[in-house]
Amino acid sequence: MDYKKFIEEQVVEIKQTVGDKIAINALSGGVDSSTVTVLGHKAIGKQLKTIFVDNSLMRAGEPKRVVKIFADMGIPVELVDARKEFLSALKGLTDPEEKRQAITDTFYKKVFGRLVKKYKATYLFHGTILTDIEETVAGIKRQHNILTQLGIDTRKDFGYAVLEPLKTLRKDDVREVAKLLGIPKEISQRIPFPGPALATRIVGEVTAQRLETVRKATEIVEEELSDSGAFQYMAVLLNDYATGIRNNKREFGQIIVVRCVESVDARQASVTKLPWPKLIRLCERIVKIPGVNRCLYDLTPKPPATIEYV
Ligand code: XMP
Repeated sequence: MDYKKFIEEQVVEIKQTVGDKIAINALSGGVDSSTVTVLGHKAIGKQLKTIFVDNSLMRAGEPKRVVKIFADMGIPVELVDARKEFLSALKGLTDPEEKRQAITDTFYKKVFGRLVKKYKATYLFHGTILTDIEETVAGIKRQHNILTQLGIDTRKDFGYAVLEPLKTLRKDDVREVAKLLGIPKEISQRIPFPGPALATRIVGEVTAQRLETVRKATEIVEEELSDSGAFQYMAVLLNDYATGIRNNKREFGQIIVVRCVESVDARQASVTKLPWPKLIRLCERIVKIPGVNRCLYDLTPKPPATIEYV
């Protein structure tokens, strides 16, 4: 694929489509939304308003770090605090699809609905890629950024039209485009992180406290496995409890799963054969998190498992 030509064509198309209107986009700091942000700014500059929504589901320090990276590239990003709104939308929900639906609705109807009005935006840029569309259309999983392909009329329902400049690309293509656009390696080579963020790594109800637990575990897993060369690695909080013993007292503790996989484009995945001492070290650190007394390593390939748990 000729990535340079892809960028040139998209810039022309975005300019033509948006004209003198205002567009808006949500940046998560992942390679997809970052690439859309830079591509959009290259095409229409200040007519694109980029927002980072703090939905309370991000990793430790992530919102401020992402805003700083883009500020360094000369792209202003507005940080919107919507933590309470997301947590209250997720309250009491345990079904995976209901959780995803709540996140989609809070994001696109509520938070973005408000921002679109504030900026009088006509278009919303999305970082949808080909794999998202394929899996959603096949009914495997509802990716939270898929709307039009499911027959949702965003103009009618949300008041804006969606543009998806990356919808013909797969993850490896997006990384190449990101590199060509001058996006720092910290982002272009970053492991995939899903839009619904840590909510996809909590089985059962998403609460502030459970998020704190999985956030701590995620920090440990990312520190320990950043040099593994694996496609993706994560920590997952299960909805089960197991008996344990700490300070000579019986405790009923939470269970964290470590998942680390090899893949090319996330359509299929196999477990990374991590060295035994690394696994032991991960376990030692994870069971120090308050309330966690077991750590498991997931051996399941995709299929039949998916990479995320929710
Ligand atoms: P699964 O869990 O379906 O994930 O095997 C495949 C890849 O997609 C990521 N993923 C998502 N990315 N929004 C996203 O932007 C989502 O809703 C979503 N769900 C999963 C996942 O991290 C993996 O890389």
